[in-house]
Amino acid sequence: MATLEDTILDMKKRKNALIIAHYYQEPDIQDIADYVGDSLGMALYAQKQECDIAVVCGVKFMAETIKVMNPNKKILLPDLNAGCSLADSCTPQIFDYFKKKHPGAFVMTYVNSSLEVKAMSDVIVTSSNSVKIAKQLPKDQKIIFGPDQHLGRYVAKQSGRELVLFPGNCFVHTSFSTQKMFDLKKEHPKAKIIAHPECEEIILEQADFIGSTTQLLQYTQDDAADTFIVMTETGILHQMQKASPNKTFIMGPDLTGCACNDCPHMKLNTMAKVLDCLNHETPEINVDPELAEKALKPLDKMVEMTLN
Ligand code: 13P
Ligand code: SF4
Repeated sequence: MATLEDTILDMKKRKNALIIAHYYQEPDIQDIADYVGDSLGMALYAQKQECDIAVVCGVKFMAETIKVMNPNKKILLPDLNAGCSLADSCTPQIFDYFKKKHPGAFVMTYVNSSLEVKAMSDVIVTSSNSVKIAKQLPKDQKIIFGPDQHLGRYVAKQSGRELVLFPGNCFVHTSFSTQKMFDLKKEHPKAKIIAHPECEEIILEQADFIGSTTQLLQYTQDDAADTFIVMTETGILHQMQKASPNKTFIMGPDLTGCACNDCPHMKLNTMAKVLDCLNHETPEINVDPELAEKALKPLDKMVEMTLN
């Protein structure tokens, strides 16, 4: 009898579809994907493909970004409720209020945001290109950054640019216990601490390496250390362990043992939903053309400044 995996792979082929997954997806989804990557990688990969359908196994802002950059492709998201609490916390009204407090400022916005907020921005950044993009802006330029304050603070430090930070954060990346991380480091003194820039400043200060999910994965492959304390969402461990089977990866400790560092939005996608969505070609991501046109401008700017 055909397995769920075989059925998905077969249907994918018949429909000229691709599965584009984020590292925070469950391992079984990562294993059937045509591409697994960070937010930037997913968007750039989708742009280069000839497929008719792309199933985005990630969260809604990722699928919307891919739709705006690929208006002629059918973009599916296995579970439409897969949102992002960071993106959702920064509503267009609140962002407009924030912008009005800083008239004339250049607006640099993290890709973890709604399309409406993107449309109010000058450039979009991801965790992997934000420092590079900030460094290209004039030093005397007034810049506002939203919605993740921790990434923004990190970008300001690395780029030497002064950024006015929107006070948002990701509850997954702020649920790590700094004390327990210190305890772990004591237990494994040779372990390297690696962290996503959405983590709090005190954690980033202790990290041996900070980067996007793709950059963290690459670091674990390139670095000579054999043990890593990983301060990001749990899904990334799958690729780390696959790429370096002889190394040890210890998940960053959360505050209460609540498994808060599993992103509940990301984990809404399942293999059964992937099959269902390919089969019925729904839920489909459709965006208002006028809004898409406005959001595309800062996304195009991002691609231009990334390749610069
Ligand atoms: P990356 O772009 O580094 O994969 O991060 C996306 C994200 O949502 C982190 O919480
Ligand atoms: Fe959003 Fe945080 Fe989940 Fe990333 S980990 S998708 S920022 S809620």
